[in-house]
Amino acid sequence: MPTTDHLAFGIDIGGSGIKGAPVDLTTGELTTDRVKIPTPQPSTPAAVIEVLGRLLAEFDEDDDAPVGLTFPAPVLHGGFPFVANLDQSWVGMNIEDEVRRELGREVVAMNDADAAGVAEAHYGAAKGVPGVVLLTTLGTGIGSALLVDGTLVPNTELGHLEIDGRDAESHASSAVREREDLSYPKWAKRLQRYYEVVEKLFSPDLIVVGGGVSRKHEKFLPLLTTRAPMVPAKLRNNAGIVGAAYRAAELTR
Ligand code: BGC
Repeated sequence: MPTTDHLAFGIDIGGSGIKGAPVDLTTGELTTDRVKIPTPQPSTPAAVIEVLGRLLAEFDEDDDAPVGLTFPAPVLHGGFPFVANLDQSWVGMNIEDEVRRELGREVVAMNDADAAGVAEAHYGAAKGVPGVVLLTTLGTGIGSALLVDGTLVPNTELGHLEIDGRDAESHASSAVREREDLSYPKWAKRLQRYYEVVEKLFSPDLIVVGGGVSRKHEKFLPLLTTRAPMVPAKLRNNAGIVGAAYRAAELTR
């Protein structure tokens, strides 16, 4: 199938899984089922890039489409200043150059929550919303994306706010809820404290809650009280893939 201008690839690289699919940028939908491969352990650059190659080969009919990659880390000038949930050997290398060299594809790397924010702003819960939108992803960590009139302020890293003397994500992420076997009401108390601090600092007009657990939003969103309306992400777990594909097309075409 020839590549068309409205098509790009998104690949979401997480601490436990690497998932990707081609995205139709006119609709923000995956053109086919996504493929998920477990993240290799240790998650070194060479091991992860090998998985990216395998994943792209599954869809080799689109081999000219740009590829957007998301990482669970801030991405600055093609590299990570630090990473919490991936092998430390990534820090300091230029990821875009390395992946481009190994896979021969046009690539753009970005933070995973930022990608979700871009996707929700273009196709989902934050579409056309003016003012300040804050998206948080609740997963292995807590990710954040800040949008001002639809424009992303990248790498906000609000999961690492220090609240009550500890790193916020180490107390309130979805992984912590699972690990400590917290009930939804108990977890909601931790989230409540988190969103209170975040609201105080940023006064958002809308808060969008993403990450895998947003599928179960009715179990915890009604337990939270915020000044700004709080809504579940619409693209759910595909938001990273879609946002990365959108950005890759935007920056390479
Ligand atoms: C990372 C962020 C990431 C978030 C969600 C945090 O630990 O520092 O960059 O967006 O996890 O994956």
